[in-house]
Amino acid sequence: MKIGVLTSGGDAPGMNAAIRGIVRAAEYHGIEVYGIKRGYQGLIDGEIKKLTYVDVDNIAELGGTILKTARSMEFMEEKGRLKAVEVLRKYGIENLVVIGGDGSFQGAAKLNALGVNVIGLPGTIDNDLSYTNYCIGFDTALNTVLDSIGRIKDTGSSHEKGTIVEVMGRYCGDLALYAAISGAGEIISTPEKKLSFDEICKRLNKNILNGKNDNVIIITERMYEIEDLKKYIEEKLNIGIRTTVLGFIQRGGRPSGFDRMFAGKMAIKSIELLKNGISGKAIGLRDNKIIAVDFDKINETPISKDEEYETVDMLL
Ligand code: ADP
Ligand code: F6P
Repeated sequence: MKIGVLTSGGDAPGMNAAIRGIVRAAEYHGIEVYGIKRGYQGLIDGEIKKLTYVDVDNIAELGGTILKTARSMEFMEEKGRLKAVEVLRKYGIENLVVIGGDGSFQGAAKLNALGVNVIGLPGTIDNDLSYTNYCIGFDTALNTVLDSIGRIKDTGSSHEKGTIVEVMGRYCGDLALYAAISGAGEIISTPEKKLSFDEICKRLNKNILNGKNDNVIIITERMYEIEDLKKYIEEKLNIGIRTTVLGFIQRGGRPSGFDRMFAGKMAIKSIELLKNGISGKAIGLRDNKIIAVDFDKINETPISKDEEYETVDMLL
């Protein structure tokens, strides 16, 4: 039996720990693993090499992905996907583990429908796959956000100045939400609970009247132009406020213990499923259990974040 593995879409800390887990668990079951470089594009281009025990030595602690990652326009087309299937056939690889986010899973489902046995592992700092509590990379990115905002707070409180901090997440507010629950900010605005500029000013003003000037406002990317918000606040409240866009710093770094452990456990699950002839599923974590959900059902029962939003309201 041969299993291919690729990483696709945005990289996330912990992807290497997942690759290591796949190679080690497969070897344990006497299965060969083939590493495919540069995601679906590398698959189409036949960038494939056997991975053995030593190839994945000491990679669990590394950020990024040793297999590289890519976004492939060619794979978006049926013609590109058929090419990919042909390449897999040439190598005798009938099974594939795709580590990536929402887009990568859509591609994985289409490949599965073409007869390749595919399992998906959720790897994205956005945590935007609604069937699972956590995606590989989210915990590390959250810790990076907390560390970065901690540094911003040191200078903000020394100068008694507020800061608007923009975090990643694409269209998902989890990084902002969990950072705020962890005590990193005074006001948050996310795609799920978007605040108007006036509402932000109202909350800010209340804090200032209470004597707090070094407020941190955490916003999710893609919602507003951060400089427009700064200008609005400065004019409306007649104060100065700083801005910081955390950006790609959130994608890098050594994966946390949680991401590494979680990646290893999910890797084992993916190999066990494929070994037993089960495919077309995405692995995740729900109610503290590793789960496997059909690709076409991953949006059916989204995990509610209501409790987290209630929590954050009480803590801000
Ligand atoms: P992520 O997996 O992090 O969400 P993308 O959305 O960029 O990242 O998706 C990664 C790759 O998955 C894309 O470059 C493309 O090759 C493939 N992909 C995304 N959406 C689809 C789709 N609807 N059909 C087929 N392939 C897709
Ligand atoms: O999906 C991960 C992510 O880092 C998002 O948070 C962000 O919006 C996006 O990728 C950035 O994508 P790119 O690497 O194409 O600039």
